Amino acid sequence: MKQIQIIDAKNHVGETVKIGAWVANKRSSGKIAFLQLRDGTAYFQGVVVKNEVSEEVFQLAKSLTQETSVIVTGEIREDSRSKFGYELGISNVEVIGESQDYPITPKEHGTDFLMDHRHLWLRSSRQHAIMQIRNELIRATYEFFNKHHFVKIDPPILTGSAPEGTTDLFETNYFDQKAYLSQSGQLYMEAAAMAFGKVFSFGPTFRAEKSKTRRHLIEFWMIEPEMAFMHQEESLEVQEQYVAFLVQNVLDNCDYALDVLGRDRAVLEKYTNLPFPRISYDDAIDLLIKNGFDDIQWGDDFGSPHETFIANSFDRPVFILNYPKAIKPFYMKPHPTREDVVICADLIAPEGYGEIIGGSERATDYEFLLEQIKNHGLSEEEYSWYLDLRRYGSVPHSGFGLGLERTVTWISGIEHVREAIPFPRLLNRIYP
Ligand code: 4AD
Ligand code: MG
Repeated sequence: MKQIQIIDAKNHVGETVKIGAWVANKRSSGKIAFLQLRDGTAYFQGVVVKNEVSEEVFQLAKSLTQETSVIVTGEIREDSRSKFGYELGISNVEVIGESQDYPITPKEHGTDFLMDHRHLWLRSSRQHAIMQIRNELIRATYEFFNKHHFVKIDPPILTGSAPEGTTDLFETNYFDQKAYLSQSGQLYMEAAAMAFGKVFSFGPTFRAEKSKTRRHLIEFWMIEPEMAFMHQEESLEVQEQYVAFLVQNVLDNCDYALDVLGRDRAVLEKYTNLPFPRISYDDAIDLLIKNGFDDIQWGDDFGSPHETFIANSFDRPVFILNYPKAIKPFYMKPHPTREDVVICADLIAPEGYGEIIGGSERATDYEFLLEQIKNHGLSEEEYSWYLDLRRYGSVPHSGFGLGLERTVTWISGIEHVREAIPFPRLLNRIYP
């Protein structure tokens, strides 16, 4: 007899199969027991009818506790009443691993309790749905960049450089030297772009930021494309096409997850309309001041209420262009006619989810960069390899970084970024 996964049930209607699963929930009466089964691919219902099985099997089914692992045997039937569309008419149950007093019950639990039990919480249908969306974004990312002839490059995690400023670095010992956990692979990706043209990275990054918000993780995953012979305008087009592609693929491939999360498809569909609007930093500041924000002025970085207000002025993600030089990293290209701003853009997600992409055109002038490195208190020696990129065949190039977890949070329509990664690293939390 075939052992199948629940997700493949539709291909086995009318057949008797075996399934390895966990009992997520159970309801029973004198004559019938309903087992809510999950195997990681999907959830569905197994039905045990008293007078169709031996008394022993029926009693065993009725006694199963939450999260007991089992191998069930039965016939796959269509079931138009269930969301999943199929159920299992169970003829036999074999217990594989018992589960006593499973801590996460169908009742409501507090966030701290759930976070302490993250290793078990991952089994719940909501977490399952979020991880399916995360998985789809990962899959679609590779598809998008492969289709456009990008080469996947893996920058190092242990580094000697600080692309995004020196204040939030995790320092570690590297034998008799100091090293940092990577806060961005960008500088290495610039080297890679000069070698391979169009490249992207996809890996973990670390920020020792003392931020405790619903958007901040200490460890998060970033996709960082870098493109040679490309100015910022063209990079913005790549960014909007990529983000629309991510949303479209979730719409096409994650029906069940969107249902579980109660995410409105019509809302997501609007986010596939291109182009995304563009507003300058200057105009964004004006917009805020005109609308009564008296806590911001030209030169300040946006806080989340500001980003939310700007985002709410549009019906899809919006690019904010050309921020003040003083609040951006050292490597950004200066504006051709203005001293005070750089050629960059952040992409702000709708519905209050904040910045999901940060990107820019990169400075190409050797002398300018050298001065910037000194002005930012960085060591010329440690950046000498980076400066080499401007000495040997320097070309216009642009790139960006998309935060995976913020994008998962936004597309899933969930409250907090901590649920968008299997084991979140947060301020004051590294367990489990
Ligand atoms: O804006 P950031 O800091 O940009 C960079 O690191 C550039 N070097 C990227 C590049 O041009 N190659 O980070 C990029 C994105 C943000 O827009 C956000 O989505 C995410 O990374 N991000 C975070 N996500 C979760 N928690 C944090 N603490 C994050 N910090 C940034
Ligand atoms: Mg940023």
